[in-house]
Amino acid sequence: MKKEKLPEVPKSLRDSLVKAAREAAVKAYVPYSDYPVGAALLTPDGQIYTGCNVENASYGLSVCAERVALFKAVSEGCRSFTALAVAGGQRRAAVPCGACRQVLAEFCAPGMPVFSARLKGGTVTSATLAELLPLAFTGSDLG
Ligand code: THU
Repeated sequence: MKKEKLPEVPKSLRDSLVKAAREAAVKAYVPYSDYPVGAALLTPDGQIYTGCNVENASYGLSVCAERVALFKAVSEGCRSFTALAVAGGQRRAAVPCGACRQVLAEFCAPGMPVFSARLKGGTVTSATLAELLPLAFTGSDLG
């Protein structure tokens, strides 16, 4: 996979993104897991799209916070992103599940930073999308 050098996200912007993800987690609909998650996606022009997980009595139909944020953005015409923050977990910060990593790889560069934070406090960790999903399957593999 081609390594892309992306500009660092300034700490103040990272903190705002984590704050937005934590605020989004408050809206999570999680009667089955009781595991609220919030996500916040940053666009190149500084807009932030947020999402929370929305569960269903038919468990498999539940949708993660990351995909809700991404689909909100794409459905409003935004397809370019520079960073993602995820907030969830009390002991360990939530990281995107495998399905979300694949869906993110459709729109986000391999070098995009993904920040993970607990719901409250603790340190914020950072990994690129490529670190979370090496050898991603993408549209360029088709045809
Ligand atoms: N979940 C997310 O929304 N994002 C993650 O990064 C990890 C998992 C949700 C799915 C489900 O509603 C609950 O957390 C427990 O798995």
